[in-house]
Amino acid sequence: MPGVWKIYEQGGPENLVWENEPKGRVGARHVLVRHTAIGLNYLDIYQRSGTYPVELPTRLGVEAAGVVEKIGDAVTEFSVGDRVAYAGIGGAYAEYNRVLASRLVAIPDAITDEVAAASLLKGLTAAYLMLRTFEIKDGDTALIHAGAGGVGLILTQWAKYLGVRVVSTVSTIAKTRLAYDAGAEHVVVYGQEDLVANVMKFTERAGVHAVYDSVGADTFRDSIDCLRKRGTFISFGNSSGLVPPVDLQMLMAKGSLYMTRPSLVDYISDPEELKELSGELFALIEMERLTISVNQRYPLAELPQAHKDIEARKTTGSTVLLP
Ligand SMILES: NC(=O)c1ccc[n+]([C@@H]2O[C@H](COP(=O)([O-])OP(=O)(O)OC[C@H]3O[C@@H](n4cnc5c(N)ncnc54)[C@H](OP(=O)(O)O)[C@@H]3O)[C@@H](O)[C@H]2O)c1
Repeated sequence: MPGVWKIYEQGGPENLVWENEPKGRVGARHVLVRHTAIGLNYLDIYQRSGTYPVELPTRLGVEAAGVVEKIGDAVTEFSVGDRVAYAGIGGAYAEYNRVLASRLVAIPDAITDEVAAASLLKGLTAAYLMLRTFEIKDGDTALIHAGAGGVGLILTQWAKYLGVRVVSTVSTIAKTRLAYDAGAEHVVVYGQEDLVANVMKFTERAGVHAVYDSVGADTFRDSIDCLRKRGTFISFGNSSGLVPPVDLQMLMAKGSLYMTRPSLVDYISDPEELKELSGELFALIEMERLTISVNQRYPLAELPQAHKDIEARKTTGSTVLLP
């Protein structure tokens, strides 16, 4: 029987349990996918640790690539043997998963399974942040936190492709090189340098048009102070902890700011939008406008170590787990 990682209780990586489960029946609109590469995402840490609530027991992991092994009677879009990927669907830390056909995307020939698993969730996130949440444009300035991380590297390259001038943040000098290579014009090592002063200097005291903040608690206050009047604060993650409740009046006091807290699920639940955004992402990868850095690979059996490493901020770029 194929193996899956599950949790019965939220907590540390030691709570991850490897079990064998039958492949099960494939529903009429479902596809059975044999995984070839699985993406590691910070979201998995929130679900494992308890930052986000989950129904227990549960399988974890939300992104994978693989091959269609079986299709349900009503599935017309895919055939056995097709290469497919998915993002935002539970149960990905496993050798197999059953997925609704409407939530799958076909992997183009020029893209490997590993790159698909390393880029789909993170790249769809960059896609909606760049194209839907706030229409950032050529010549605008942006602050992107965790610029050497999985989403950070893709988001920075995408912003650069659109002509946006990016300041990014990282936690170590060693990580600055990756952020610069992705297209950041200025990189600040947070904790060691004054972020607001650096951003104000970079923008000639105006502040940036948009802040893309996935760090949360630790960066919130500075992020707000880096915005120009009528700038937009996009809080899309909380790797350092949840952002505290916000006083609405503060948005007026700081210069008529906008604020949003988006989630990928709300941008890809419509299969047409999923197709559009994944099309944009794969096209940029194929055109070599986006390079996906798979900087860590672990056997699926070593998942707890992968969790420890991403939480300890030891990883850069994308991480894949190989069954
Ligand atoms: N809302 C959405 O739709 C959506 C979708 C996908 C991802 N996300 C969010 O985007 C962020 C990036 O996701 P990812 O999977 O690509 O992860 P990642 O960026 O590869 O890893 C997280 C990074 O956060 C930084 N960080 C800052 N403070 C931290 C702390 N106290 N503990 C651990 N890390 C800290 C670290 O970079 P430094 O060491 O350089 O600080 C770390 O490498 C996450 O917050 C995730 O939840 C949101």
